[in-house]
Amino acid sequence: MYKICFVMLASFMLAACSDQPDPFSKNDQTGRWYTQSQVGEGRKIYRDNCSQCHGKRGQGAPQWNKPDAQGFYPPPPLNGTAHSWHHPLPMLQRTINEGSRGRMPAWKGKLDEQQINAVIAYFQSWWPDQAYDLWLKRHRR
Ligand code: HEC
Repeated sequence: MYKICFVMLASFMLAACSDQPDPFSKNDQTGRWYTQSQVGEGRKIYRDNCSQCHGKRGQGAPQWNKPDAQGFYPPPPLNGTAHSWHHPLPMLQRTINEGSRGRMPAWKGKLDEQQINAVIAYFQSWWPDQAYDLWLKRHRR
């Protein structure tokens, strides 16, 4: 009996660890791929790691679409008003994992897969339905 439970638990954990979320799945609470508890987990991760650059409500830097003197763009909004909905889920995960052009830090090794998904869930919870629907359309390509 214990053995069976252990095997079940182990395979559940394995599935939970390597499970790539399906962007087309619809959670009952949110109508989107993520759960309300992922949004809750992501809120704290975002506050601790992302808000100083991307803004408390994901509004981005004031002049986010103007390159600075070195030709680098400031942190863009993540609230659905800028480009983030152009990027399918794997690309969002990759940008967060690897960072970008030396200006966006790499989070690999600091945040695990589950935390990165939670923080994506959190900033996507700001996206209006229209931006979210456009994002899903990008996935269909
Ligand atoms: C030190 C400032 C800084 C921090 C901290 C930071 N970012 Fe960024 N982020 C940036 C900059 C700058 C860019 C734009 C990079 C570019 O133009 O290539 C960016 C780009 C992005 C993008 C791509 C958006 C798009 O529209 O293309 C995502 C997604 C993102 N960041 C998520 C996050 C998340 C999630 C966190 C916290 C875990 C975070 N960032 C923390 C500076 C930061």
